[in-house]
Amino acid sequence: MIRQKIVAGNWKMNGSKESVSLLVDGLLKMEGSSAQVVVAPAFPYLSQVSGMLSGSHIVLAAQNASDQPKGAFTGEVSTSMLNDFGVKYVLAGHSERRSLYGESDAMVAHKVKAILAEELIPMLCIGETLEERKSDKTLEVCERQLNAVIELVGIDAFENIVIAYEPVWAIGTGVSASAEQAQGVHESIRKYLSTFSVSVSQQSQILYGGSVKASSSQALFAMPDIDGALVGGASLDADEFIAIIKAAG
Ligand code: G3P
Repeated sequence: MIRQKIVAGNWKMNGSKESVSLLVDGLLKMEGSSAQVVVAPAFPYLSQVSGMLSGSHIVLAAQNASDQPKGAFTGEVSTSMLNDFGVKYVLAGHSERRSLYGESDAMVAHKVKAILAEELIPMLCIGETLEERKSDKTLEVCERQLNAVIELVGIDAFENIVIAYEPVWAIGTGVSASAEQAQGVHESIRKYLSTFSVSVSQQSQILYGGSVKASSSQALFAMPDIDGALVGGASLDADEFIAIIKAAG
């Protein structure tokens, strides 16, 4: 089963009008790639980046969205607002949202439902903490996080959902999971999906995230069940991010 690779940059709460302009200019110098290239700026820069990406092969993502369509939800951003700015992908359930802002599995599932309702593509982030890995609960955690979404939107909805496996212990630490470690979990995630739908499991794009660097990306992308990367820190450097994109083929 051929699945297009996705290389997505999650800029997190970083950037300024000037640095965003320099970063996107650097990325636009890159020739086209076989991978789908995605960038996720912080909300204030969506309009600026959307304009700069116009006509390019790079697509826009948002880092979060409300599960509500509109109304008295101070500080929130709706999926329709994101659609207004040409956003195509929306991250849901990033571990920093889960751990720092209390997003539960159920809340993440409702965000995914809202993203799908706006015909945008959720990037559903799942992954275990170091404590959970040490107690051999990696698959239990990933399956629980997937199940909350499957139960709400159904397995067929996963035809339009990208999964990002991001072991929390590898995020921002400079210590990536090895290609073999990541492949093992990705293979198990795909096997779990196949218990609901073989076709969905075969077509689902499962990205790896957690200290991805140009030096580690070649080995990661060589693995059969790793369909790309969700990159944090390294995506803030145009040359490094381009090197990761090139490693995707
Ligand atoms: O969403 C991607 C991010 O969590 C990974 O961050 O800095 O470890 O690549 P980083």
